[in-house]
Amino acid sequence: MPKAHLKRRKRPVTAQPKASVPLPPIHISGHAKVIINTSTLSKAPLAKLGKSSTDTRRRINRFHTLIKEYSKLASQRPQLTDPEKLKEIDLQCDSISQEMAQMGGLDWYQKASLLGQSKQRGGDSSRWLIPKLQELQLHQRTSRLRLLDVGALSCRNYAREKWIDPLPIDLNSQEPGIVQQDFLEIPLANFTSEKHKLFEKPFDVVCLSLVVNFIGDPVKRGDMLRKAAQLLAPQGYLFLVLPLACITNSRYMNDERLLDITKYLGFTQLFSHHTAKLAYYLYQLSRSPPQVSDGPAQFGKTLLHKGAKRNNFTIVV
Ligand SMILES: C[S@@+](CC[C@H](N)C(=O)[O-])C[C@H]1O[C@@H](n2cnc3c(N)ncnc32)[C@H](O)[C@@H]1O
Repeated sequence: MPKAHLKRRKRPVTAQPKASVPLPPIHISGHAKVIINTSTLSKAPLAKLGKSSTDTRRRINRFHTLIKEYSKLASQRPQLTDPEKLKEIDLQCDSISQEMAQMGGLDWYQKASLLGQSKQRGGDSSRWLIPKLQELQLHQRTSRLRLLDVGALSCRNYAREKWIDPLPIDLNSQEPGIVQQDFLEIPLANFTSEKHKLFEKPFDVVCLSLVVNFIGDPVKRGDMLRKAAQLLAPQGYLFLVLPLACITNSRYMNDERLLDITKYLGFTQLFSHHTAKLAYYLYQLSRSPPQVSDGPAQFGKTLLHKGAKRNNFTIVV
């Protein structure tokens, strides 16, 4: 019998939309957050993760594009005074968030990304980080390593490492063990609520794996790196993962530029590694980050490489 007959047809994986539960906002711009409310979609067909992994990847890319488009519009908004133009921008923003909602919103995106972790990378980023932390002898420490996993899709990534005390957080928690918290809104003082008390002690490691590129606004990306420095203990570690194209195929970013930005924020690069799709970095905090100033950005959007096929990824600090 031909092999094709023996193969079971794969049914697309289906995400259960949380009908009538508004999803948390996606922090994609300094001025506005997209609130993806799926309540209007309760009668819509269940959002599929994808017909195939290629289709899922295509839809994830579309979701990224929508985030970027929304961010661009939201950053233009404060400069506008003409009511007609404002109305036009608001309509475009509405249509983008509708499309995101139709796709299943952040919830769909996270489930699809989780699927991507196993299919594309052969696992989550902790597989690269753990051996590096062991190389630094951090598993030999007497106290457990406090690790903040930002944008965590699962709370099992570090569960087997008893020397690590992980705190997974996300804008939209996928599991009871993941604390629903916007990283950029973690307080640095006055830890009054029970939830905020979780952030009272500094962290030994902050993980930003595929989170900085999720943010559409380059200034907010810079804020993320600065926030990591503020939350770390002295000599603490920052683990950063970006899609490789953000580094090797951007008009405004490359490895040298990233090194300069992270140095400015007080980090020393210990390890870096490029795979076919991802760029991994491990930094150590060697001094406190500089104070935020009202002046011009230290690292703005500077053209580094020309090329029609390049992307516009950048980090502004
Ligand atoms: C592509 S997923 C990355 C997941 C995982 N860290 C990985 O390496 O595969 C990006 C995640 O970051 C989360 N995220 C984005 N901005 C965030 C923020 N400001 N605070 C907390 N989580 C955030 C999103 O909700 C999403 O679940």
